[in-house]
Amino acid sequence: MIALGSDHGGYALKEEIKSYLEARHIQVKDFGAYTPEAVDYADIAYPVARAVSSGECERGILCCGTGIGISMAANKVKGIRAACCSDCFSAKYTRLHNDANILCMGGRVVGPGLAQMMVDLFLETSFEGGRHQTRIDKIAAIEREQ
Ligand code: RB5
Repeated sequence: MIALGSDHGGYALKEEIKSYLEARHIQVKDFGAYTPEAVDYADIAYPVARAVSSGECERGILCCGTGIGISMAANKVKGIRAACCSDCFSAKYTRLHNDANILCMGGRVVGPGLAQMMVDLFLETSFEGGRHQTRIDKIAAIEREQ
């Protein structure tokens, strides 16, 4: 199950991604926005991040205008490694090296075709572990210290 969310700036892209995943029979849980009306990205990032950190959803995809604000908000939730990407290399390597569990994209930055490629890479790529596990363990240690 993939958690989806956006603010108004990412609404159209989130809807595109939702249709794309549903057409491929991938289960999604949509946390809004449900209309293009203005909504603050933190109000959507938080429930999506909670769904991923609790294990209710395996991964998440968040969209705002740039992908930046919504990734900042999601990264405040313990256990979340949200990556704001606008290219395929980053979308793949954030899985391989960072074990990212939420992909963030900007609806005003990337088009639907590129977003679909990034979503595929993000969902299909496994974490490499090894030395990269040591590194993300240090992120978790910072979280525990706060
Ligand atoms: C909303 O206008 C915009 O600021 C938001 O979608 C996002 O880009 C913030 O990072």
